[in-house]
Amino acid sequence: MISFPFSRQSFVLEGLAQDHCAELAELHAPAFHHAWSEEDFAGMLSQGNIFGFIARPVGKPAQSAGFVLARLVAGEAEILTIAVSSAFQRRGIGRDLMEGVLRHLHHERAESLFLEVDESNVAAQALYRRLGFMQVGNRAGYYETGQGRSNALVLRKQFPEVIRVP
Ligand SMILES: CC(C)(COP(=O)(O)OP(=O)(O)OC[C@H]1O[C@@H](n2cnc3c(N)ncnc32)[C@H](O)[C@@H]1OP(=O)(O)O)[C@@H](O)C(=O)NCCC(=O)NCCS
Repeated sequence: MISFPFSRQSFVLEGLAQDHCAELAELHAPAFHHAWSEEDFAGMLSQGNIFGFIARPVGKPAQSAGFVLARLVAGEAEILTIAVSSAFQRRGIGRDLMEGVLRHLHHERAESLFLEVDESNVAAQALYRRLGFMQVGNRAGYYETGQGRSNALVLRKQFPEVIRVP
């Protein structure tokens, strides 16, 4: 587990661990058409290359506001999912969670971070573009929406080249 909790504004980020799985399933279900179960999260978090953060209001350790899950393999990372509970949206938590991932990747000297986003998901696209993601592709019919299929945009953020002192 990666753990470097830090706080910004009135929320704290905790590194994800197995005992967060029930909370993650609860946060994920209302945000997506296809809900991931507690067991799905447990399986993912047992893989050493998957990491993420959960956001909590300061002073309320039993309450969760959102989370992000990402994978890093051989310098290339991807966002697997991110969700902020509707009661906490537009308060900077999505950006804080993404910045937590970016800090970790910087620390790990990753080269790039990819993600897919539904072409109709205006909120998420605005968040990603503000963080410097650029579109590098698209995937037709990638998401099942309940009323058919929708297209995904593939976005990437490239990290500046790391200069290694010999
Ligand atoms: C996408 C999501 C994670 C954003 O979380 P959030 O905590 O509300 O986002 P933030 O408050 O950090 O917003 C950061 C920036 O993103 C943009 N943004 C966020 N929500 C937006 C919205 N509804 N409309 C337009 N822009 C939006 C804004 O530029 C915002 O900055 P600002 O508030 O200073 O204008 C959240 O809406 C969510 O969980 N959605 C459901 C799940 C989902 O779609 N996940 C992404 C799958 S790819």
